[in-house]
Amino acid sequence: MDTERIKTVVEDLERLLLDFMRRHRITHQEYRCATDILVGSVKAGEESLLYDIFLEAQATDNGNIGRQGSPEAIEGPFHLPGAPWLEPPCVAPQRLDEAGDVLFFRGRITGPDGEPLAGVELDLWQANADGHYSNIHPGIPDWSLRGRLRADAKGWFEVRTILPPPYEIPKYGPTGRVLAALGRHAFRPAHLHVKLRHPGFADLTSQLYFQGGDYLDSDVAGAVRDGFIVPLVRHDSPERLAARGLDRPYFEIRHDFVLAPRPAPGRALFGSSRAVPANDHWRS
Ligand code: BEZ
Ligand code: FE
Repeated sequence: MDTERIKTVVEDLERLLLDFMRRHRITHQEYRCATDILVGSVKAGEESLLYDIFLEAQATDNGNIGRQGSPEAIEGPFHLPGAPWLEPPCVAPQRLDEAGDVLFFRGRITGPDGEPLAGVELDLWQANADGHYSNIHPGIPDWSLRGRLRADAKGWFEVRTILPPPYEIPKYGPTGRVLAALGRHAFRPAHLHVKLRHPGFADLTSQLYFQGGDYLDSDVAGAVRDGFIVPLVRHDSPERLAARGLDRPYFEIRHDFVLAPRPAPGRALFGSSRAVPANDHWRS
């Protein structure tokens, strides 16, 4: 625990909030309303959702300053450790009749000098065609559209999954009520999440959006950055479909990642106590 850093940032935050309360003449009723929202978000399993919508993109941008390799994107509240391992040809776990267009996601992973990195772990998670995440929203088989795979000896990876739609964050809890009061919609543009890990390099949390998709300019989490938007290529030629063993058109994206050297171990402000959201109240 870096006590000097804690003192600097917490005291600055305190000054900032007190100044804000003075300037707006925040009343006790308004103050209690704000604390109720924060407490309510925890009770509703939304503690991470509320902050990730408003603040996570800035923390990620800050972390990208001076970063070597690919920039990081927000993680959001829905990553879960321990997703099943996939073996080539990798297919994200899904129901036999999983809705959504087929999407192949492929790319290459290198180190900072362009050297291919073998065996990088890619940990993927995404929403289904209803915009819902397994293990979070009810009624979806556990670990659906979540999985881990390894890049091959030359740094290449490929996984077959489905094209997710734009995602609407839960509207009926405290976070949704705050957004409604602000007159904002609750959508994130369609996206795939991926974390990359290799023992010799810094972990990378990324997220990819699809060119031309809805809400790219008005993401409720304000997290879209140009480098994360990838062209979505549609294939429908009989040759391509035959080569993929498909009887309907499919989509493909390619994105390459550059891993940065592992930094010296950092010191967390207070340590982490992040919990899996208790979400059984969420309605879709
Ligand atoms: C998401 O990527 O799924 C997400 C990110 C921030 C807030 C809510 C959801
Ligand atoms: Fe997401």
